[in-house]
Amino acid sequence: MSAFPVTRLRRFRRTASLRGLVRETSVHLDQFVMPLFVAPQALANEELPGMARFDVEGLVAEVDALAASGVRAVMLFGIPPEKDDEATGAWEDEGIVQQALRALRPRFPELVVLTDVCLCEYTSHGHCGVVVDGEIHNDRSLELLARTAVSHADAGADVVAPSDMMDGRVGAIREALDDRGFESTPILAYSAKYASAFYGPFREAADSTPSFGDRRGYQMDPANVREALRECELDLDEGADAIMIKPALPYLDVIRAAREAFDVPVAAYNVSGEYAMVKAAARAGWLDERAAALESLTAIKRAGADLIVSYWTRDLPAWL
Ligand code: PBG
Repeated sequence: MSAFPVTRLRRFRRTASLRGLVRETSVHLDQFVMPLFVAPQALANEELPGMARFDVEGLVAEVDALAASGVRAVMLFGIPPEKDDEATGAWEDEGIVQQALRALRPRFPELVVLTDVCLCEYTSHGHCGVVVDGEIHNDRSLELLARTAVSHADAGADVVAPSDMMDGRVGAIREALDDRGFESTPILAYSAKYASAFYGPFREAADSTPSFGDRRGYQMDPANVREALRECELDLDEGADAIMIKPALPYLDVIRAAREAFDVPVAAYNVSGEYAMVKAAARAGWLDERAAALESLTAIKRAGADLIVSYWTRDLPAWL
């Protein structure tokens, strides 16, 4: 290869069309998932519109608008009317997510509906598993998580996505799904989910802040990447169909490492704090939201993500 002046990299940067021809990474609506919060009562969110809560009727209207604009996939989170120690609202037949699934399913046959499978929005203490003697009990949580996943599949979920970080939950969910005839329902495992400071706005929206302690006893230490690959490998061995890294922007190296290590679909969750930071800076006049969001999402794809869960999904049809 010859250097300057024979070589001039600016030649292909001269016009938008030239740049387009050689672009290595692109952002397509097809690979985005919009997270949606469903609750007995709607709750608008002026500052973070992607994080509003909908009642079932409002959810149907929101999904109608999203689908009409070209959004292909949504992920449901539920806020139950009441919380208890067994996370009843997560797995009962009349749970809020189950009701939402039954409302959406017949109306939007083409839409991919994923569900977050976790107990934290449904337990009185806000932890992702069952508490026994002040500890989050791994094995006793598995049965309730599996029951939750089966009830979601039964109500019409296309994909279940466990986010609790208990050991062995993917295997427990796979077995329970298969036992009930849901062998075609894929599992998107939140495999490398870090104990992150960037979940703040979500915990407000989902009312899932733990009432004691924190999540570091089950979510991953932000300092570790080799361990993330072990998490992915174990989830795949247990039957995960796709793996997810979360959060996304502070963990681009983890996305890249997972991409290189595994030939399965890799998802990334562009979490509430990543969204809120840009929103706040844009409101202060410091950043252009559209440009900063598209740059962030492009970076997540460039790192190796196939699909992205992002609160910006609802803005993408207008932006792209
Ligand atoms: C747990 C769950 C969380 C998020 C998705 N699933 C919160 C947590 O682990 O505390 C966070 C998503 C976000 O911040 O956007 N059910």
